[in-house]
Amino acid sequence: MTAIDLPPSLLATLPGSAYTDPAVFALEQAKIFEADWFCAVRSADLAGPGAFETVQVGKESVLVSRGRDGKLNAFLNVCRHRGARLCTSERGTVKRAFQCPYHAWTYGLDGKLVAAPNLTGMPDVDRTEFGLTKLHLREWLGYAWVCLADEPPSFEETVVGAVTERLGGPTEIDAYGLDGLALGKRIEYDVKANWKQIIENFMECYHCATIHPELTEVLPEFADGYAAQYYVGHGAQFGGEVKGFTIDGSEGVDRLPGVSEAQDRKYYAITVKPGVFVNLVPDHVIFHRMFPLAPDRTLVRCDWLYLPEVVESGRDLTRSVELFHRVNLQDFEACERCQLAMDSRSYVNGGVLVPSEHHIGAFHDWVRARLNS
Ligand code: FES
Ligand code: FE
Repeated sequence: MTAIDLPPSLLATLPGSAYTDPAVFALEQAKIFEADWFCAVRSADLAGPGAFETVQVGKESVLVSRGRDGKLNAFLNVCRHRGARLCTSERGTVKRAFQCPYHAWTYGLDGKLVAAPNLTGMPDVDRTEFGLTKLHLREWLGYAWVCLADEPPSFEETVVGAVTERLGGPTEIDAYGLDGLALGKRIEYDVKANWKQIIENFMECYHCATIHPELTEVLPEFADGYAAQYYVGHGAQFGGEVKGFTIDGSEGVDRLPGVSEAQDRKYYAITVKPGVFVNLVPDHVIFHRMFPLAPDRTLVRCDWLYLPEVVESGRDLTRSVELFHRVNLQDFEACERCQLAMDSRSYVNGGVLVPSEHHIGAFHDWVRARLNS
């Protein structure tokens, strides 16, 4: 099939400015990241009451913390007095309350304003009105997903639906028991590229043969570049000689007990827009969260999750982690290389999508629709 035969919508990428223009990025923050469910923190990272983590969601700093009742809450990380950033550290634990470092307004773990120095002389300030701004929060797959919108979109449709649709059924993801897994390794990647570069790269496999020699050894069908169209739903089969999803194809660790025969020796990749990629293999799960920080900068947190007993046993996970760590490095280097040219006169009208990149075309349509909504 030649490019000329292709319907125009499959040909057009976004113009280069979509990856560099601060106005586009601001629109994406407002209409995508502050409007959708956003995967903020791993629930188990906040172990007890008072544990907190702050993350960037759109242009807002969000504070997620565990309350006295053991439940997670999410707030805007903004003091209601004069707007100071309440928590300036990325993570930590407070004993009883959050105290603003500016004038010492103090908020309970439930976000209520519990104390403010000398407020008794100011009867017109109603403490109940000046609690932290609370956000919607749902826990699923062992992660806390927050939504900044007043009226969030349906979690079932936009998050659960995105996962189950990819796997071909609602029970398939349950087999991996994500919320019972333990963190074997976390690596953070500070990627000098627009978030869309990263998602587009993840959605296609046209590049696999060129930049992922180790991955294509383990998953030979990725080498033809068309795998992205086929592995969704039925999974990509491990190569015949391959024993496990490891850097050298050697044996992995204990298989997750819920994984069925049909899911064994297979790799599944799922994108949950706007910022989550999940990879499922029989003995572990790789969970990526993206945090867009600037038009040309995205933080990616990648968690390797295993059975708790595997992590506790101290078994060597190096070969297991190394495979996707190397894939990540290869992918992010490619994203950064593209980002460099987004302002070039040569890319002002964008580029071309080949047929195997049709997921990217659908993603661009989604971005366009969201920004025009
Ligand atoms: Fe926080 Fe004044 S700004 S107490
Ligand atoms: Fe890749």
